[in-house]
Amino acid sequence: MPKEVLICGFSDTSVIAKRVAKLTGSLYSAIKCSPFPDGESLVRIVNNPKGRKVVIISSMFPNSNKKIIETLLAGSAARDYGAKEVILLATYMPYLRQDKSFNSYEAVSAREVVKLLTNAYDRVITIDPHLHRVNSLREYSGKAGEISSVPAIADYIKDKVRGSYVIVGPDEESSQWSRAVARKLRKEVHVLIKNRESSYNVKVSSGNFKLHDNVILIDDIISTGHTITEALKLLKKKGAKKITCIGIHGILAGDADKRIRKYAELITTNTIQSKYSKIDVSLIIADAVRNNQHR
Ligand code: R5P
Repeated sequence: MPKEVLICGFSDTSVIAKRVAKLTGSLYSAIKCSPFPDGESLVRIVNNPKGRKVVIISSMFPNSNKKIIETLLAGSAARDYGAKEVILLATYMPYLRQDKSFNSYEAVSAREVVKLLTNAYDRVITIDPHLHRVNSLREYSGKAGEISSVPAIADYIKDKVRGSYVIVGPDEESSQWSRAVARKLRKEVHVLIKNRESSYNVKVSSGNFKLHDNVILIDDIISTGHTITEALKLLKKKGAKKITCIGIHGILAGDADKRIRKYAELITTNTIQSKYSKIDVSLIIADAVRNNQHR
């Protein structure tokens, strides 16, 4: 890929951004965010964006409020300094849960955050957004779209998991990912039934199906970990011997990881970097950049 593409990473996305730059033969630039005494951020792209297609890779997590602002400012700096095109590659898109107003006078944060970002960028692409009531971020803006980590997850399983196994989704909302991975691997898939009474109170039940000794449980977001932990307890009761739990976006709030690891091996992608990020999405991003998939 010609050197007129500049792949930029914040401190938490620098590893992915450098890999993507290498894979696509592009230039890499760090984005520096320095704090003012009142907590505001001074945002600067280290290398010159002039005349280049600039791809800014941001996870917008943790501290999403602050990181959304820094992401907006990085896009505006690229534009002010003459970038030909400014693209946001959001490895994780926050605020998508609230894709409708569930109770009177609540804000629809998903629509508003996508609108904010697409105002600042020519294109906004995200990996596996948490969408349920809308099918694509395109419904919020023609400049937004998504790519999927499913091929990377399927390759990881193919490479690491031996013997027979069944794929399980902990709830209907996440079943689009468990079903897609199972389809790619031509494996059996079962989706559990979840009732969420509150953020911390989740009940999971199942239909009648036979388990293999090995189970791979797949969810898009692991936040408090209650969904996964309840699913794990149920699978253990049903006789699962070894469970591998794969989350796309490992938010892992509080001690979510500890609770999950009592029952299963925990693996996530690196859309949000942590010690569990064993599945690398750099190749998926590089393909999107190379093939102009963001158009
Ligand atoms: C549900 O809508 C999602 O697919 C996840 O299951 C959910 O976000 C996980 O949340 P938690 O880890 O807090 O149970």
